[in-house]
Order: sequence, then structure tokens, then C-alpha cells
Amino acid sequence: MIRCDEVTKKFRKNGSEVTSLDRFSAEVVEGEFVAVHGPSGSGKTTLLLTLGGMQRPSAGTVQFGGRNLYALSPADRARLRSSEIGFVFQMFHLVPYLDLLGNVLLAAPGKKLGQAQRQRAAALLDELGLAKRATHRPGELSAGERQRLAVARALLNRPKLILADEPTGNLDPENAAEVIRHLAEFHRAGGTVVLVTHGSAADTQADRILRLEQGRLLAN
Ligand SMILES: Nc1ncnc2c1ncn2[C@@H]1O[C@H](COP(=O)(O)OP(=O)(O)OP(=O)(O)O)[C@@H](O)[C@H]1O
Ligand SMILES: [Mg+2]
Repeated sequence: MIRCDEVTKKFRKNGSEVTSLDRFSAEVVEGEFVAVHGPSGSGKTTLLLTLGGMQRPSAGTVQFGGRNLYALSPADRARLRSSEIGFVFQMFHLVPYLDLLGNVLLAAPGKKLGQAQRQRAAALLDELGLAKRATHRPGELSAGERQRLAVARALLNRPKLILADEPTGNLDPENAAEVIRHLAEFHRAGGTVVLVTHGSAADTQADRILRLEQGRLLAN
């Protein structure tokens, strides 16, 4: 489903250079649940952004479903991203002035929202135990509720792949298990998951663990 060949990402800042990914090569096959481990700064977020078509590598290629992601036009890449990939970001990226339904619907492609999309958004909020709070704003939610909201948004377009960046980072064990349970359900239904995590909550769900250190993939 996704394949990275010799992916390198470098950042230049104030004359100094940081190598965030260093000749990273790996493949994730359809239906796999892959966990990514690594210390802070090892390149985990960079990897997810690169896999998701949101950050062009300095070198190397990323293939998604056989297509070279960064050879596509920005419009084609954006279309592919919104139809096939769901993101759960490390920092939620919720919009404070929209209510919960509005935040889920942010993921909807195009400008016109259909009734079907609204119904799906409402059904997802229900599934994630947030139905009663659909008209609240993210600021009124607990950390666990916010993270469940981010998962609902990632599921809206029925993606094939979910990229989740420490979705349980700020959660107590109970809420963390709940978020993992939803990702595991998506996986059981045939979805592919790449999950960045510090903790071990997800390890029992994962088919495979990739370990990063200083932008490099460590041999297992
Ligand atoms: N936009 C950027 N500009 C400059 N440097 C960056 C940028 N994004 C990431 N980096 C650097 O690349 C390295 C890897 O960052 P990344 O965010 O991928 O790490 P991470 O493994 O996700 O860390 P954490 O566990 O703390 O989230 C870090 O040294 C970081 O400072
Ligand atoms: Mg990160």
C-alpha cells in the first residue's frame, strides 16, 4: 500500500541542518497495523507527514498504491489524501470556534456538504460516545473526548489508511485504550493503520513495530 525508498528529509534552519529522516526504506501492506516507536526527535512525525503526502522528502520516493506520491500534482495529491487517508494529529488540530460536528466535517472534501456526510459525521460522533456533545466546542471537552473527536474526523471519508501521531499521548490508560480500540476496529474491518506511539498500549494490536532512531529505521 505504501512504500518508502531511501527517503531522506533535511531541514535547514539558521545555517544548521537537521536530518529528520535518513534513507528510510519500508513497506506497509494493505490491512497491516504498524506501530512506530522512537525517542523524541527521531523523525516519527516527519515520517507520518511524508507518508501522508503532506511533506515532500528531500530525497527518495514514497509510493502510495503504486503511484509516486510526490510526482503527482498538488491537486491530485490532495484529492488522494482526502479520499484515502485519515489523519489523527499529534496536536489534535481541532478548530475551537466550530462545534464537534463542524470539526468532524472539516475532513469532508469539496465545498458542498451533503446530507449523507452530515449523517455520517453524526453517526461517528455517536460511535465514539460524543453524540450528546455534538453542539459543544472542543474547548469544552476533556483530553480523551478531544482525541476521540480527532479519530471521528479521521474516519469520516472512509479512508483506507489511518496515520495516527501519538493519539494517546495525553490520555489516561482508560481513554488511551478506548482510542486504540477504535483504531483496532478500523483495522479489523480491513483498514491499514500506521500509529506513532511512545507507550505500549498499542503493541498488542500491532502486527509489526518499526523503530526509529535519529531518522533511521533500526533493524528489528
Ligand atoms: N519544520 C521543521 N523545521 C526544522 N526542523 C524540523 C522541522 N520538523 C521537524 N524538525 C526536526 O526534525 C527532527 C525530527 O522531528 P519529528 O517531529 O519528526 O520528531 P518526533 O519523533 O515526532 O518527536 P516527538 O516524539 O517529540 O514528537 C527534530 O530534530 C526536529 O527538530
Ligand atoms: Mg512527533
